Amino acid sequence: MTTYLEAEANPTRNTGVIRLYDAAAFEGMRRACQLTARCLDGLAEIVQPGVTTQAIDDFVAEFARANDTVSATLNYRGYPKSVCTSINHVVCHGIPNDKPLKEGDIVNIDVTFVVDGWHGDSSRMYPVGRLKRAAERLCEVTYRSLLIGIEEVRPGGHIGDIGAAIQEYAEGERCSVVRDFCGHGVGKLFHDAPNILHYGRRGDGPEMRPGMIFTIEPMINLGRPHVKILNDGWTAVTRDRTLSAQYEHTVAVTETGCEVFTFSPAGLDTPGIIMAPVAGAAE
Ligand code: MF3
Ligand code: CO
Ligand code: CO
Repeated sequence: MTTYLEAEANPTRNTGVIRLYDAAAFEGMRRACQLTARCLDGLAEIVQPGVTTQAIDDFVAEFARANDTVSATLNYRGYPKSVCTSINHVVCHGIPNDKPLKEGDIVNIDVTFVVDGWHGDSSRMYPVGRLKRAAERLCEVTYRSLLIGIEEVRPGGHIGDIGAAIQEYAEGERCSVVRDFCGHGVGKLFHDAPNILHYGRRGDGPEMRPGMIFTIEPMINLGRPHVKILNDGWTAVTRDRTLSAQYEHTVAVTETGCEVFTFSPAGLDTPGIIMAPVAGAAE
């Protein structure tokens, strides 16, 4: 059984109950999420061969400072940087360092800014120069997985519908879905209930209700789904060292469906990745 809670009366601590947010909270989340999206937009020009992930961290830290905000990842459970940068076979939580990016790399940049206590959490893939077709296709499949998950968000649906749709699509494209990390409730807390699995069965999990806010952030691999964590305690990599990609949006359940808070105001949701039109789609 699922318990739901008015978020206003119980603002913090992950108690396992699912919070329902009011209009003022939605406004706060829009502001935090749009700031995060603008930072991700700015990074599209920065990411190039020769640039270090530390330079990306510097950009994000300076963007935060210039906008009177803070990064939620800096010092989060001991995480040392303002952003996560996950290159090629790194699945997530890559730590910026002084190694330069090289032509053909794909890098996920995951930013979370806190504005008036609200967390805006989003990530995108960035191509470094020209990509091989396999890398570009993985990015395309991964963003499409996220959109297909978002299409399941509506009151009365179940959280499991999201993962089921993502898994069905991604595996149909001969890719695999990472099981070890999931999306999460988000608001005044960075990581809150419920967990949003990116695989599973339709009808499983809690029912979606208007006012819920959570992330969807599928990690999709070209090879097998298994991951391991490196000795730094953070960096997750594919065990078979095949490429991995991830995109993340923060979304809300509305009375009629879904609102995506982290869409790019500049239309740069898949910077440098061309999304082929869907066969059979209307218009
Ligand atoms: N932004 C990540 C997420 O989507 C979490 C990063 S936590 C960190 O949930 F400590 F690794 F930065
Ligand atoms: Co997240
Ligand atoms: Co994130």
